[in-house]
Amino acid sequence: MSQVPDNAPGQNWNAADYARHADFVAELGGPVAELLAPRPGERILDLGCGDGSLTEIVARSGATVVGVDAAPDMIEAAKARGLDARLMDAHNLAFEHEFDAVFSNAAMHWMLNHEAVLASIHRALKPNGRFVAEFGGHGNVAAICTALLAALQARGISGKARFPWYFPAPEEYAEAMQTAGFTVDSIELIPRPTRLPTGMAGWLETFANPFLHGLDEEIREAVLNDALALLAPSLRDSHGNWTADYVRLRVSAHR
Ligand code: BEZ
Repeated sequence: MSQVPDNAPGQNWNAADYARHADFVAELGGPVAELLAPRPGERILDLGCGDGSLTEIVARSGATVVGVDAAPDMIEAAKARGLDARLMDAHNLAFEHEFDAVFSNAAMHWMLNHEAVLASIHRALKPNGRFVAEFGGHGNVAAICTALLAALQARGISGKARFPWYFPAPEEYAEAMQTAGFTVDSIELIPRPTRLPTGMAGWLETFANPFLHGLDEEIREAVLNDALALLAPSLRDSHGNWTADYVRLRVSAHR
C-alpha cells in the first residue's frame, strides 16, 4: 500500500449547497446506473452516495441498496429520503463479502488512496460480485485545475501540494483493479463537457475548497477571481453560460 493520504483537507460538504450548484451530477449518472443493471433482490453498495439522489433511483429496481459516504451532512440528507445510508470511509469499509455489486458515481476521484479503496471494495463483494463506477478520469477539469494552479503559483502557493483529486488514465486504473484482484470487463474514458447551472463561481465555491484551505479571505478572493478570469475565454460562452471540461472514467469489473 502506498503512503497516500486518504482525502485532501479543506473540503466541506453541505447537502443544500450541493443540490443548488451540482444537481446535474445525479441526473448525468444515468449511463453508469444502466451499466450496473441492478436486479430485484440484489444487495448493492453505493459508494460515496452523497445526498442519495442516484441511490434512490437504483433502489427503484427492487435491489436493496446501502449508501455510504464520509460526509455527515450528505448522510443526513440521504436518510431523509428514507434510504439506508451510513457514515463510512470508503478506504476502510466495514463489509465482508456481502454485496452483489458495488456502485459509485462521481465520488471516487475524491478518494486519494485508490489501492486501499479497491481493496475495500473487493472485500465488500461476494465472490463473482461486480464493481461498476464512473468518476473523473485523466484530463478531467484540466482547464479548471490549471487556472487554480496558476492563480496560486502567482502568489507563491503550491497548488500541487493541495491537489485534492485522483484522475487516472484507463491503463493505470485497469492495472490497479487487476492488482486488487478484479477482472476488468470494460473501461472507457469519456469526454463530457458539462453545463454548470450556477456558473464557474458556483462550481469553485462547491468543489475547490482544498485549494484555498487556510488562506486569508483576501487571498482566497484574489485566487478565485484570477481563476475565473483565466477560464472565461475558454469555458464561458457569449451568453455567459459556463461549461466545465469533464472527462469521465467509466469502469465495469468483477471479482
Ligand atoms: C467530477 O465529478 O469530475 C468532479 C467534481 C468535483 C470536483 C472534481 C471533479
